[in-house]
Amino acid sequence: MKKRILTGITTTGTPHIGNYLGAIKPALKLANDFDESFFFLADYHAIIKNSNNNDIAESVKNIALAWLASGLDSKKSFFYRQSDVPEILELSWILNCVTAKGLMNRSHAYKAATALNSSDEDKGITMGLFSYPVLMAADILLFNATHVPVGADQIQHIEMTRDIAGRFNHLYKKTFELPEAVIQASQKIITGTDGRKMSKSYGNIIPLLSTEKVLKKSIAKIITNSLEPGVPKDPTDCSVFSLYSSFASKDEIKEFEQQYANGISWGDAKGKLFEAVNTEVTPVREKYMSLLSDTDLINDQLSDGSKKVREIAKEMLDSIRQSIGISSIR
Ligand code: ADP
Ligand code: TRP
Repeated sequence: MKKRILTGITTTGTPHIGNYLGAIKPALKLANDFDESFFFLADYHAIIKNSNNNDIAESVKNIALAWLASGLDSKKSFFYRQSDVPEILELSWILNCVTAKGLMNRSHAYKAATALNSSDEDKGITMGLFSYPVLMAADILLFNATHVPVGADQIQHIEMTRDIAGRFNHLYKKTFELPEAVIQASQKIITGTDGRKMSKSYGNIIPLLSTEKVLKKSIAKIITNSLEPGVPKDPTDCSVFSLYSSFASKDEIKEFEQQYANGISWGDAKGKLFEAVNTEVTPVREKYMSLLSDTDLINDQLSDGSKKVREIAKEMLDSIRQSIGISSIR
């Protein structure tokens, strides 16, 4: 059996260095250990959270660019847009019909949304949000992915995918492999400018695809305490230090620790952080700049990608339709 990895990023917002270090870079590295890799833009997931068409279109472009600029080779991996593969939506419906509502009731994302409501617990909850894990299961199962690299917040969705796959296999015939989540042990949560997890939902991001000037500005915005230069500083519980350690070697981190003890000024500490981030993202930025105006190239790569995956998708869906009794009349 082929070892296949598959992962998607929801196309809302601008890619940030948390996405790059936590998702894109490790997934691209992992691809070397697998027979096939599938990377896609989860744009039908995006409309669950955002109904602004310009935001979605902009984000699709930026996230596609983030993958390509970070080194994705569309000749070696399948790279596509979810919305270009209608078979995913067809499978999603079929899976909806074998998924227990009770399973969806237990989804963290759905529960978090209802918890915000007081009198009417369903206020603002769409069927898209409720059945989000089913669409994600369809993304994964259509290609029988064996391994799914995701952030820890997505583990429940992979477990649900396994439940749904098991249910289908039991009701019809063994069709789906049960995928495994791949959570890298070394994977750290990258902190944002306010010390919380970097996330587009918190507005605390350091963008991946910005100019040096914007990068410098967003690093300058990191919140610190007001200790003066010359006063020793505590590297624990410090966003500048924590971010630096995601980019630096062990020795560099040690040296930075010493500089904290010696009372480095916040300006100098942020300057050092900027240098470290900038060194890592400069090649990504350069590639991004060279691709930015070449929208035909991006569109061509995505359209080639969807053509290739649709061949696999169609074959799988034909066999699924046969299994469920939706086939030509005999
Ligand atoms: P956001 O929190 O900005 O909405 P997403 O949920 O779209 O980000 O995440 C896309 C991918 O990037 C996921 O695999 C997620 O685990 C990873 N990721 C997002 N933020 C971080 C972070 N601060 N640190 C590490 N990984 C992250
Ligand atoms: N739900 C994932 C997220 O928000 C994105 C996603 C959609 C995904 N479909 C997927 C990830 C399939 C892995 C596999 O991060």
